[in-house]
Amino acid sequence: MTGAADLLSRLVEEVNPSSAWRDSFIRIPRHRFIPDRIWVEDGDDLAVLDRVDDPDAWLRSCYADRPVVTQVDDGDTTGRGYRSSSASMPSIVAMMLDATDLAAGQRVLEIGTGTGWNAALLADRVGAGNVTSVEIDPAVAAQAEEALGGFGVHVVLGDGEKGYPPGAPYDRVLATAAVQHVPYPWVEQTRTGGRIVTPWGTSFHNGTLLRLRVGEDGTASGRFGGNAGFMWVRGQRTPHGTLDGRVRPDHEYAETSTDLHPYEPVGDFEATFAIGLRVPGMKDLVVFDGDVPGNPHYTVYLMDPGSGSWASWRIRPGPRDYRVRQHGPRRLFDELAGAYTWWQEAGRPAHSRFGVTVTCRGQRVWLDDPGNPVSPEDPV
Ligand SMILES: C[S@@+](CC[C@H](N)C(=O)[O-])C[C@H]1O[C@@H](n2cnc3c(N)ncnc32)[C@H](O)[C@@H]1O
Repeated sequence: MTGAADLLSRLVEEVNPSSAWRDSFIRIPRHRFIPDRIWVEDGDDLAVLDRVDDPDAWLRSCYADRPVVTQVDDGDTTGRGYRSSSASMPSIVAMMLDATDLAAGQRVLEIGTGTGWNAALLADRVGAGNVTSVEIDPAVAAQAEEALGGFGVHVVLGDGEKGYPPGAPYDRVLATAAVQHVPYPWVEQTRTGGRIVTPWGTSFHNGTLLRLRVGEDGTASGRFGGNAGFMWVRGQRTPHGTLDGRVRPDHEYAETSTDLHPYEPVGDFEATFAIGLRVPGMKDLVVFDGDVPGNPHYTVYLMDPGSGSWASWRIRPGPRDYRVRQHGPRRLFDELAGAYTWWQEAGRPAHSRFGVTVTCRGQRVWLDDPGNPVSPEDPV
C-alpha cells in the first residue's frame, strides 16, 4: 500500500502546479477534504465506494488527477445518479487558480464550496480571513466547514448566484460550478479592476473557462479560454429527463435527409462551443445501436426540454445520406445545421476568440470584440 504522502507527491508531479501554487498543493492534502463515502465510475454508471470497505482504493481515488464525486442527486435517494458535488479535478483546479491571478492579502469569494479543498488552497495563498465560500447544499456545507476548521475560511450556506454582499467588495470571484449566464451580483460585488473566473457553458457544450475584468462602469468583460467541464450551479441546470420520456412513439415528426455527418457539429470542441451559443437550450445524446460504444450505426438525438422539441439523426456507414426526424415547435436539426454553417463561414473561430460582456441588463457573447455580438443580449 502506498501512503498518502507518496500519492500526494506523485499527484503534484503529475499536475505540476505553477510556482505560485505548488507549495499550497503540497501543504493541503486533498484526502483530508474527501468524505468517507465517494462515487467512482463503473462503466457508464457510478458505484459507491466507502472508505471503510476499501481504504486503499479510496485513497488512490483521492490522489488521482480526476474529479472525486462526493454527492449524487443533491443528496436524495432517487437513484438517478446525477453528480451534484465533487472535489474538482486537480489539474483543472490548478488551471483555475492560476487564472484568478491572486496575491497574498486579496479577498476572494468562492462559489461552490464542495469539499472545501479549493477554499483551503485559496486561504493558504491569500491568508486566513480573506476567503468567503458559498455552498447551496446544507450537508455539503456542513462537511466542508468541519474540514476547513483552522483555515480561516468563512463558509456561507446560500445561493452563490446571489454572491455574498456582506463580504463585498471582493478582489476576485471564483466559481467552481458552471454557469450559462453570469449572475450580475458577482459583478456588483467585485471591486473595479477585480476579476471573475468561472466555468461557462451552454446546454450543448460544457464548457470552458471565462475570465472577466470588472470595469469602472459596473460592467465586466473578458474572454473564454481552456477546457473546463463542471457541474452547473443548481439554478442553471438544463432540466433532467430520460430519452424515452422526451422522444415518444406517439409524437408526430417531419422526415428529411441530410449529407451532414455529426463528426464535427456534435463532436468537435470548437464547433460545439459556437453552435451552443447560437442554439439555446439544446441538449444532445448519442445512442449506439445495441448499446455498443463505437458501433458505426447510431442515432444522435437533439432535444430542447423547454419546448419538448426533438430531432433524431440516424447515422450508418456508407453513402452520406442520413435520415433526420424533427418534432415540435423548434426544428433543432435545422437550427444546428444553420449554426454550423455560420461557424464555418465565420472562419471556424476557436472558443478563445469569443468573449462576454455582463451588464445589469444581462450578458452578451461576442466574437473578437464587444462590438461584434453573436447572439442577442441574454436578459438576467
Ligand atoms: C464541483 S463542486 C465544487 C468543488 C469544490 N470547490 C471543491 O474544492 O471541492 C460544485 C459545488 O457547487 C455547489 N453549488 C451548486 N449550485 C450552487 C449555488 N447556486 N450556490 C452555491 N453552491 C452551489 C454544489 O452543491 C457543489 O458542492
